[in-house]
Amino acid sequence: MIQEIIEEDTYRPYALEAMEYIQNCFWEMGMVLAVEKERKVINQISCRIKSADSILKKIKKKNYPLDREGIFKCNDLLGIRMVCLFMDDVYEIAKRARNREDFRIIKEKDYIKKPKSNGYMSLHLIVEVPISLKGKEDVQPIKVEVQLRTVAMDFWSVLDHQLVYKKEFPGAETVGKELKEYAATISELDKNMLKLRKKIERLSGQLLVSP
Ligand code: GTP
Ligand code: MG
Repeated sequence: MIQEIIEEDTYRPYALEAMEYIQNCFWEMGMVLAVEKERKVINQISCRIKSADSILKKIKKKNYPLDREGIFKCNDLLGIRMVCLFMDDVYEIAKRARNREDFRIIKEKDYIKKPKSNGYMSLHLIVEVPISLKGKEDVQPIKVEVQLRTVAMDFWSVLDHQLVYKKEFPGAETVGKELKEYAATISELDKNMLKLRKKIERLSGQLLVSP
């Protein structure tokens, strides 16, 4: 039955509409912030929709009903990743997202303040947006997982994803420890870069006011 729903595609038009809408919202928030700050804020935004196989796995793992509602219950049916230049940009975008009235944040996981035990850092927001399609009367709330992170955090997690994440191999524990050390190094560098930007801002501010 679930396979039929996935193949029939009765959820996908809502999902795609939600993904496009939320992606645009975050893009716009980033662009507005960039104009305000007079510097680049977004390095990249990407999105993905869960494959049919992964939807099935997730629904079974979570014991959701094997129907259309079960698909919509998945927090990460849709994923958007927004990579910002600096850590304060990440928190500023999250703050602006909390103030939106067109979608709401139903869950937050701050893996920046409290990184995962393997060193993974990112700010995860589960947002919910009401979607209605042209010619249809129903309004379907759709959830999107938004991952906000810095370029440095992205560097680590993209490589971790390829090398270690959810993989089993002999020596994985030792490798994991090493990777966690690198996460700490990268995080230190990230903080230093933010300090450096602030220092430059102070210096150029002084330059502007001095005769
Ligand atoms: P999933 O079942 O994987 O979706 O995890 P979850 O439901 O516990 O949610 P969580 O917020 O912890 O993670 C969701 C997503 O964040 C994952 O699908 C990855 O994209 C990313 N992520 C979480 N942990 C890691 C990690 O240790 N390494 C990397 N590279 N990515 C991670
Ligand atoms: Mg996931």
